Amino acid sequence: MRVVSGIQPTGNLHLGNYLGAIRNWVKMQDEMTEGSECLFFLADLHAISTPHDPAELRATTLEMAAAVVACGIDPDRSILFNQAQVPAHAELQWLLNGTARMGWLNRMTQWKDKAGKNREGQSIALFAYPVLQAADVLLYQATHVPVGEDQKQHLELARDIAQKFNNDFAPKDENGEEKPVFTLPDPYIPPQAARIMSLRDGSAKMSKSDPSEMSRINLVDDADTIMKKVKKAKTDPEPLPASKEKLADRPEALNLVTIFAAIEESSVEDVLGRFAGQGFGAFKPALGELLVETLSPISTRFRELLEDREALDAILARGAARARERGSPTLDAAYEALGL
Ligand code: ADP
Ligand code: NA
Repeated sequence: MRVVSGIQPTGNLHLGNYLGAIRNWVKMQDEMTEGSECLFFLADLHAISTPHDPAELRATTLEMAAAVVACGIDPDRSILFNQAQVPAHAELQWLLNGTARMGWLNRMTQWKDKAGKNREGQSIALFAYPVLQAADVLLYQATHVPVGEDQKQHLELARDIAQKFNNDFAPKDENGEEKPVFTLPDPYIPPQAARIMSLRDGSAKMSKSDPSEMSRINLVDDADTIMKKVKKAKTDPEPLPASKEKLADRPEALNLVTIFAAIEESSVEDVLGRFAGQGFGAFKPALGELLVETLSPISTRFRELLEDREALDAILARGAARARERGSPTLDAAYEALGL
């Protein structure tokens, strides 16, 4: 099994990024058995498909790398790198551009959503983004690619590109059997990730772009700040019910219970089993302590890594070297198959 997954480098990381994205990588890493491995990359090449600030991209890429390591990605067990440090991603994309069809890309719903009515004004990179994604995974002969609902169509496209390339260009062996250049990757349904809502509004996602600092718990928040934010989180005067259905019209309450369950990897039902009948005066301190206990080692490590730029650069450089080694036979085979 070879799992390949990328994440856009963003800054100001919060609890939603941890529980909804980064922790899933850690779970995947932990599921790998002998002979299997994960390649995780920071998708900095993808980040230039929309307007961006170079200095900010450099900073958020490092921040994301530090966060990923602080959250438990072990650079010895997994291969962690920046996409831009492995030129084969961009090279293979160009080779695949010869196979990908305009019509296929035109049908991508993400392209349609992101471009809106202004297609003419978008970058070529935004349009061709799914081809780079195909290169990201085909380069490593990925067998499994974790995909959320919104990425299924892009994985299908990667398979279509791989299949057409193999059909059109794969060399034949002495028995006339096709020797495929690319493996068709299967979707890997990642462990269930929680969707974390704002602490101030149960109908809005916890997000770095929320102007209210009180709406989110940041990975760098200290214990006092975490306790204060939880204490001030919006709730209601009712005690916690015994069943999840009874929280359906209490989104803020449901969110706090969801966070508790996600952190300890239990379920909402399980947490309610312990707290039913109690009010938030009891639940909030318990949640705050659980968050502090979980996040303080992460934030300590995160700060250390960000302050030790050399160590972080070394982790990424080694990851990139290992990724280049994994990817180069496939890149060579693709050039060769195309007559280049
Ligand atoms: P933000 O909404 O803060 O801008 P991003 O869009 O940069 O976050 O998301 C980075 C990653 O974190 C994505 O994989 C996204 O699905 C995940 N993520 C962001 N916010 C949440 C949230 N509130 N709950 C669960 N996952 C989240
Ligand atoms: Na966002």
